[in-house]
Amino acid sequence: MTLHTNAPLPIGSGERLSGDVPTDGMLNQVTPLIPSELQHLPESHTTMDKLSREDWTQLMQYRKLYHQEEQAKQALEMLAVQKDSPSYGFRINNYRHSLQSATMVYRDGGDDEDVVVALFHDIGFVVCPDNHGEFSATMLANYVSERNYWMLRNHAVFLNYHAQTHPTVDWNSREKLRGHPHFEYTANWVARYDQTSIQTQYDTAPLEFFEPIVHRVFNRPSKGNPTPS
Ligand SMILES: [Fe+2]
Ligand SMILES: [Fe+2]
Repeated sequence: MTLHTNAPLPIGSGERLSGDVPTDGMLNQVTPLIPSELQHLPESHTTMDKLSREDWTQLMQYRKLYHQEEQAKQALEMLAVQKDSPSYGFRINNYRHSLQSATMVYRDGGDDEDVVVALFHDIGFVVCPDNHGEFSATMLANYVSERNYWMLRNHAVFLNYHAQTHPTVDWNSREKLRGHPHFEYTANWVARYDQTSIQTQYDTAPLEFFEPIVHRVFNRPSKGNPTPS
């Protein structure tokens, strides 16, 4: 693709470019805000460059409300959509594995954060299997401790330790991380709540049970945007 640095911005009325490029059928429709009677930015604001400081201030206020309402809800929906997914090969699918892990943590006296970390630890397992630890760690980074963040990022390497008969996995690869302050915590977490939560007979709580806990964690003050690096 060539980047046209001096060409006019591709803003127009959304006509069909050719028969090969259909419209999405949503032309001239405006997505509702929460609450729906709130005023949108004017139609003339076709690019973000055109927003005034006042526009941004209003948006910032609105977005606080938006995240309060939507962040936990959409995180839960990401999990809920996996409910009837096929199994990865174990007797239960990733959805039930996640709920089972969270139930175990809850029964062990885990606090809100610990329960939510377990519930979402494999949220990216299907869409990015080889780096799904980074997926959940990033999703929860602003609301959890450094210890749980590190555990989420690295839990898959620690799970390898429980696959010592696997023909290709390096089961001892966690040794590269030994000495890290969160090594023992992560090893223990995976041994108790991850390698164990593949059972059909376990009395697992439903997703609805965890909903208020998820809302509480996502409504903690965010640690904020990372600085560019
Ligand atoms: Fe995992
Ligand atoms: Fe897992």
